[in-house]
Amino acid sequence: MDTGCSACHNGAGVGGGLFQKFGVIEDYWKATGSNDIDKGRFDVTKNPGDMYVFKIPALRNVAMTPPYFHDGSAPILPQAVRVMAQVQLGKRLNDEDVDDIVAFLHSLTGPLSKEILSAPPLPAAAFTQSE
Ligand code: HEC
Repeated sequence: MDTGCSACHNGAGVGGGLFQKFGVIEDYWKATGSNDIDKGRFDVTKNPGDMYVFKIPALRNVAMTPPYFHDGSAPILPQAVRVMAQVQLGKRLNDEDVDDIVAFLHSLTGPLSKEILSAPPLPAAAFTQSE
């Protein structure tokens, strides 16, 4: 909360309810080293305001689901936390702050709900949407 992460990662899921630009302060791919620059929701909506906008992921069980970001460009959690602070908030975190935030993220690990374990198959349209 002190760092500002909860401005985006908020609510019961610690995220998951909003879309936001990835790269508020600086281009995300310079920090992640992503090979392909994904334009995010812009590719679907063609709205210039959606350029580099992605879903803010829920952080529950995040320690169980590496690698991180839409393209898996951050292999481990401490790296994802540093990138987030840098490109979303313009902050360089020291090792202690990174350790504290990573420890907090590990505290979000818990048993999966029955609903998740028996997720229904997605409609076929979801797989054929993009040209
Ligand atoms: C301005 C909004 C915003 C702020 C502030 C923000 N995030 Fe994020 N976060 C996002 C978005 C959007 C993504 C998705 C990026 C992607 O998919 O490439 C994300 C992704 C992540 C991920 C990767 C999750 C996954 O499953 O891949 C982690 C971990 C994370 N954020 C932690 C943090 C932490 C810790 C902070 C504070 C240092 C923070 N975020 C601040 C918007 C934000």
